[in-house]
Amino acid sequence: MYCICSNKSLDDIVLAQKAKALPFEQAIDQYTGCNGGCGSCISEIYALFDREGILVPDSVAV
Ligand code: FES
Repeated sequence: MYCICSNKSLDDIVLAQKAKALPFEQAIDQYTGCNGGCGSCISEIYALFDREGILVPDSVAV
């Protein structure tokens, strides 16, 4: 799958998160163009991070 809005594959986004894990909202901001884009792949990215064990919930962020 591909995020058209940020011109990145979801694999690239996962790799960026693996290299430096950020709270989910921040990861979306920094690693994707989803917030300024259509947002349609955000739930897919969330599920993917969860499956890969790299999801940092926003509630634990300080
Ligand atoms: S395709 Fe990823 S936000 Fe639009």
